Amino acid sequence: MSDIHDHHSDNTAKRLTQVKAIVAVASGKGGVGKSTVAANLACALAQKGHKVGLIDADIYGPSQHIMLGLTNQDPVINPDKKIIPIHKHGLDAISFGFFVHGDEAIVWRGPMIARMFQQFLDDVKWPELDYMIVDMPPGTGDIQLSLSQLLQVTGVVIVTTPQDVALADAVKGVNMFRKVNVPVLGLVENMSVFHCPSCGHESAIFSRGGAQKKSESLDVPFLGALPLEEATRIASDEGTPIVLKDPKSPQAKIFLEMADKIHDRATTLLKSRPLTPPLPPPLPSFAKPPTNEFEV
Ligand SMILES: Nc1ncnc2c1ncn2[C@@H]1O[C@H](COP(=O)(O)OP(=O)(O)O)[C@@H](O)[C@H]1O
Ligand SMILES: [Mg+2]
Repeated sequence: MSDIHDHHSDNTAKRLTQVKAIVAVASGKGGVGKSTVAANLACALAQKGHKVGLIDADIYGPSQHIMLGLTNQDPVINPDKKIIPIHKHGLDAISFGFFVHGDEAIVWRGPMIARMFQQFLDDVKWPELDYMIVDMPPGTGDIQLSLSQLLQVTGVVIVTTPQDVALADAVKGVNMFRKVNVPVLGLVENMSVFHCPSCGHESAIFSRGGAQKKSESLDVPFLGALPLEEATRIASDEGTPIVLKDPKSPQAKIFLEMADKIHDRATTLLKSRPLTPPLPPPLPSFAKPPTNEFEV
């Protein structure tokens, strides 16, 4: 049983009200490991006894269907025309990757992407959950804005690699979420150091320690540093995140500790934060919604 307290009240956005804590995983840059962190954190929280859902909100470049081993799965639509999330590794997940098979590219404008994200919230039959992890696309664009407008997000985890070009964008990410009143749960430094498996040499390919320093100057918690490890990448490509595939590995332990820190902070935030923060203005409605095979 989870000890997370329910933060919803009458004034709260009426979306995902059956979910106690909504945690987004975001970054300024692409390719820094958001999806890896999102999948492993979701699995780690589930392993610790929480009920967890996962939304892959990267519509252009979904990953979770691969990272959770759910390629070529067609979600079921129930008689109420709600999409049933797919259950795997103890999670309930939805990804645009479930609906686009093969190498098809998505060529959509921002509003259509925002609408698809909204469908992931409104047209999916989400069960009662302790955590909803939202794997975000990179940057500070449409989906980030939709997220903050459509949901009362408990907090955001910002993933970055330690080198200056990634940190610069991570800072923009932190500032953007602050602007839209989403608490920052902390920074994760990914690909922090590489231990050569043949000679044991430690190499800081993308530098090292940058995210920890940045978290101090930004006054946000530091959630941990993950090494660059082939096993982490292989586990993701094979569809079983490393926390499940090799729970005793050093990387898995870091993810499990990170999950504890996030749980502590989310629990504190849900208890202490005002129950009814002012909601941002609603999204514009679209006169002609996009048509696609997913629409029901
Ligand atoms: N710590 C790590 N060690 C090794 N490979 C990693 C690590 N973190 C991420 N990767 C790999 O790097 C690639 C990009 O990661 P991903 O999680 O998809 O990033 P993002 O979602 O930010 O674009 C993936 O192939 C992933 O398996
Ligand atoms: Mg991703």
